[in-house]
Amino acid sequence: MKKRILSGIQPSGQLHIGNYFGMIQRMVAYQERGELFCFIANLHALTTLQDAQQLRHLTREAALDLLALGVDPEKSCFWVQSDVPEVTELAWILSCQAPMGMMEKAHSYKDKMAKGLKPNLGLFSYPMLMAADILTCRTDLVPVGKDQKQHVEMARDIAIKFNHAYGEVFTVPEPEIPEEVATIPGTDGQKMSKSYGNTIPIFGDAKVIQKAVMGIVTDSKAVEEPKDPDTCTVFQLYKLFADPTEQSALAERYRKGGLGYGEAKKMLLEKMTAYFEPFRQKRVHLAAHPDEVERALGKGAEKARQVALETMAQARKAVGI
Ligand code: ADP
Ligand code: TRP
Repeated sequence: MKKRILSGIQPSGQLHIGNYFGMIQRMVAYQERGELFCFIANLHALTTLQDAQQLRHLTREAALDLLALGVDPEKSCFWVQSDVPEVTELAWILSCQAPMGMMEKAHSYKDKMAKGLKPNLGLFSYPMLMAADILTCRTDLVPVGKDQKQHVEMARDIAIKFNHAYGEVFTVPEPEIPEEVATIPGTDGQKMSKSYGNTIPIFGDAKVIQKAVMGIVTDSKAVEEPKDPDTCTVFQLYKLFADPTEQSALAERYRKGGLGYGEAKKMLLEKMTAYFEPFRQKRVHLAAHPDEVERALGKGAEKARQVALETMAQARKAVGI
């Protein structure tokens, strides 16, 4: 039987190429070999984003982004988290099984505290809502980055504990983290991340993208000097978009000398723009046809809700409500 894969994405702003190559591309590829369930985690976003208009706007933007980047509503189930309200009921039931000791160990909560974020109860119980997302859909695998691994392990622990106490209700999920998670560097050479302000957006304004690419930090070698492609951020990013022949051709030019970083950046910009062009066109089409987006999300919510209702009926019966 095909494995069921579930992934949630918070609607937290413009996607960057680190998000694409680190996660979205991998998730979209699953559609061919598994059963993909993918949702926009707007209830999770409420823990930190408390502006209704902004949340509505970002939720819609995230839907356009993901559909444009290849989430296919014919092959997968794609919805907005709050359209399946059963997860919040399950989150409560799971919370009543969650030992405080386990919750207090959550790194992500502790990190946010350390950054000075004022905690609310939602932020603290966030991992139980995430566990409910995973368990209502009877998920086998959860593809996540390292930062989310502990949350998936908590979902796993709670599923095992619940099944032990009440009988086999939940599928026990597993985190799926590839051996080698490529970390995409940002314009300053550190990990690309919204919080470092070093991102190259996928769908941003052409001028903004150009400015980001032309601003990639390099060493100060002159045009004629030989250069090392392996330590150059421009080349690391170029590799993501170029085929092996193009990669070795550029590497050779780096080593020979006579290639300026400005020219390499222009080559990167051209490749990148061409790579995302079909996605960009799809996004423009979707933005002009909100009915198509609504239909896709509606269909996904209906299917996800069907699965959630079945799981909830069993969970309610098991606990005696
Ligand atoms: P950000 O760091 O910009 O806030 P998020 O934490 O929202 O990004 O990441 C969303 C997803 O994209 C996660 O699965 C994460 O692992 C992946 N991701 C983000 N940045 C990178 C990067 N530079 N390289 C690889 N994957 C990344
Ligand atoms: N917490 C995840 C993040 O911030 C988003 C998320 C919510 C999620 N529910 C999920 C991811 C369920 C995987 C499965 O990236």
